[in-house]
Amino acid sequence: MKFTELAESGLGIEKDEIATLFEPFVERHVTGRDEAWDDEIARRERKIRKKSRRRRWFGFLKGARRTRDTVLEEYSRSWGPDNYRDYDLGGRRVRMTPWVWGDQRMIASDVGGTRFRQLLLIRVIERLRPRRVLEVGCGNGINLILLASYFPEIEFCGVELTEAGFAAPKALQAESELPGWIADYAPLGVKDRQAFKRIDFRQGDAAELPFADGSFDLVYSVLALEQMELIRERALGEMARVSTDATFMFEPFREVNDEGWPARYVYARNYFRGRIEDLPALGLKPEFAIRDFPQEIHLRAAAVLARKPGAAGAGR
Ligand SMILES: C[S@@+](CC[C@H](N)C(=O)[O-])C[C@H]1O[C@@H](n2cnc3c(N)ncnc32)[C@H](O)[C@@H]1O
Repeated sequence: MKFTELAESGLGIEKDEIATLFEPFVERHVTGRDEAWDDEIARRERKIRKKSRRRRWFGFLKGARRTRDTVLEEYSRSWGPDNYRDYDLGGRRVRMTPWVWGDQRMIASDVGGTRFRQLLLIRVIERLRPRRVLEVGCGNGINLILLASYFPEIEFCGVELTEAGFAAPKALQAESELPGWIADYAPLGVKDRQAFKRIDFRQGDAAELPFADGSFDLVYSVLALEQMELIRERALGEMARVSTDATFMFEPFREVNDEGWPARYVYARNYFRGRIEDLPALGLKPEFAIRDFPQEIHLRAAAVLARKPGAAGAGR
């Protein structure tokens, strides 16, 4: 698969924009020889080695695979109404991990990742001009909440497996308007502070999306297929089925994790190992794949826009 440079993708995103959005969530930039950085990488790699050994020996056991129960257990603990405070630009910083981007090294929070990914989603929507949009595996719904606030005329829907993930945005929707700290986190501001209240959140399984064929013009996922290695083809097939045309995936495709520590990490955690080059067999023809944005050092992602061959909007 040939990757497209961000500047050549036609999305109109400058590297500087991404850097500016990410910066508030960077704890520190690492330059030159840095013992703390080296120690942190070594610590993480020891953990990966241990986990992948365990998986190699005990991989046949149910508990060693990323089943629906594993996901439910992990993410039921992750999502709660409290999480939205993580997006406060002036608030606490959570989940610091090592990131790289070209020759830059950074210790940063994944909340910064959500913020620059939002800009990618906005530019994809501006390019495709969909009327109905679905996010699969939407977690606490932050991507949708921000998108609805920027595109109030679009119908947004989200499907999430966990009760906790489903309940968090429902509770937020009871507020009279989008809290200011979430509006401030939005990369390009918000146009309508009530629009998030209209998002249709559903609790459901990506393996069996509760929608008729072609219900959405754009179906996307952000680090959600990541969790679905055991149902990979079904989930991708479902995304293609309920879309009339476009699918956008920001996921740890095998092409960006196929060697070194990222490959071992994906194996150890039983994360998604789908290949971009295998998407056409599922009815998803890649239009571009981008990977030049900040990346977690041990789990890389690619942003892929795919179209259904022959769909009316393909080529837009
Ligand atoms: C890493 S989180 C990403 C959440 C969200 N997309 C975001 O960008 O913030 C992965 C999410 O996928 C959800 N998920 C995993 N397997 C799923 C499935 N089979 N059906 C629906 N959601 C699923 C998890 O519950 C979790 O909320």
